[in-house]
Amino acid sequence: MTAEPLKRFSRDDGPQARPGAPAEPDPDTARLVLRTVRESDLPELRRLDQEVFGEVAYPAFLLRQLFDMYAEHFLVLDDGTGRLRGYVLAGTSALRADSWILGLGVAHDRRRHGLGRELMVAILDRLRRSGIEEVRLTVEPGNRAALLLYRSLGFRPEGPDGGLRRDYFGPGMDRRILRLDLAARAAAPQG
Ligand SMILES: CC(C)(COP(=O)(O)OP(=O)(O)OC[C@H]1O[C@@H](n2cnc3c(N)ncnc32)[C@H](O)[C@@H]1OP(=O)(O)O)[C@@H](O)C(=O)NCCC(=O)NCCS
Repeated sequence: MTAEPLKRFSRDDGPQARPGAPAEPDPDTARLVLRTVRESDLPELRRLDQEVFGEVAYPAFLLRQLFDMYAEHFLVLDDGTGRLRGYVLAGTSALRADSWILGLGVAHDRRRHGLGRELMVAILDRLRRSGIEEVRLTVEPGNRAALLLYRSLGFRPEGPDGGLRRDYFGPGMDRRILRLDLAARAAAPQG
């Protein structure tokens, strides 16, 4: 599929804007282009995924097949020098009109500039426009940054114990399951 540049969400008027925040966006961050992934991105995407997730990064063959299946909902932040600085991937089921966030990562040196939020806002917008009604994801119980980000976007725990599922990915790999009702969110005024 053809990579498609997407509208950038301005950090000056986005939900992450705070009183006292610098008026000018970080020039390195401002140069980034948010677009759908291309086949030629795969080696660089693998490098980024390994940088972000280390030993739990996707194997190359799986990343390839996730691209084959979900390129429409696979967004990257391209810095224009051949480097990707962030990505988000959603796997969708048209039959059930639901989706799972299968990956979200921002390069270490680009964190806390609103990029994770930008990727999530963009993918949720795409999913909503594709008719997806429900989005779920897993998060490590101790991953405070991700939990705070998801919570601020309206995700809530699914099930008892704050969505905690013991050994979800195997022994000792607990996860929380969070859920966002996109249909309800579209119907209710946000603010
Ligand atoms: C989670 C992650 C994607 C956030 O990306 P980011 O670009 O740094 O996040 P943003 O700058 O957009 O921050 C969005 C919100 O996340 C939360 N957040 C992000 N980093 C945080 C940190 N270090 N401590 C506390 N809260 C944090 C805040 O609520 C923040 O909102 P605020 O800026 O209004 O306070 C990034 O930390 C990352 O890639 N982590 C490793 C991979 C990972 O954990 N992915 C998620 C798997 S479920």
